Amino acid sequence: MKERLQKLISRAGLMSRRQAEEKIRQGAVTVNRRIAEIGESADSQCDEICVDGKPLRFDAKVLTLMLNKPTGYICSMDDPQQRRLVGELLPADLGRLYPVGRLDYNTEGLLLLTNDGALAQHLTHPRHHVPKTYLVKVRGCLSDALRKKMESGVRLDEGMTAPARVEAVRRSGQNCWFELTLREGRNRQVRRMCEALNLPVVRLKRIALGGLRLDDLKSGMYRILPESELAGLKKIAGL
Ligand code: URA
Repeated sequence: MKERLQKLISRAGLMSRRQAEEKIRQGAVTVNRRIAEIGESADSQCDEICVDGKPLRFDAKVLTLMLNKPTGYICSMDDPQQRRLVGELLPADLGRLYPVGRLDYNTEGLLLLTNDGALAQHLTHPRHHVPKTYLVKVRGCLSDALRKKMESGVRLDEGMTAPARVEAVRRSGQNCWFELTLREGRNRQVRRMCEALNLPVVRLKRIALGGLRLDDLKSGMYRILPESELAGLKKIAGL
């Protein structure tokens, strides 16, 4: 099946589509030893496609890893604003890996990255209610009444949040720390839930996802998930 060259190059894990287009423009891409043109399509099974003289390979090993994302990185493969990307924290020879869901620029903690499209899709599908636990530091005090509200449902613009669990609440001066477990994944959900209860978020870190915990993985570091952990994750994702 023929596909746009930039799509094929990105699928081979080499670079983003935008970067691939640039390579084509620069004349660095060949199809069957002829310099490719922008807009051209090719067949990964029949055509020999080279980038900078190196043939594309489509047999990338299926790989899923856990990264402890620091703040100041975005969960995207490209950024028009030139902010740092989580992919920059990983060695290039791991190939192209996609973040499973997102953590905000200012959120840190457990982020899965994978080249297993089915796993990524199932883990992020609302139907599977994959639990995610966040360590939250807010300014102010999470009283018993606010805690009950957070657990039973908070009204956001698009409707009430689903039941959640709050644990390990502790005060520290003007702030309060707690662990919040959600089974849904709305955009900026933790920050918006806290804002709705007048509790500005000072720090937000995801510490667990679908049975996996961040534990002592250092900020900016990653580890490849072994088959045993992948099996548990796939079960939770309904695969
Ligand atoms: N909730 C948020 O508000 N931000 C995140 O990054 C993740 C969950």
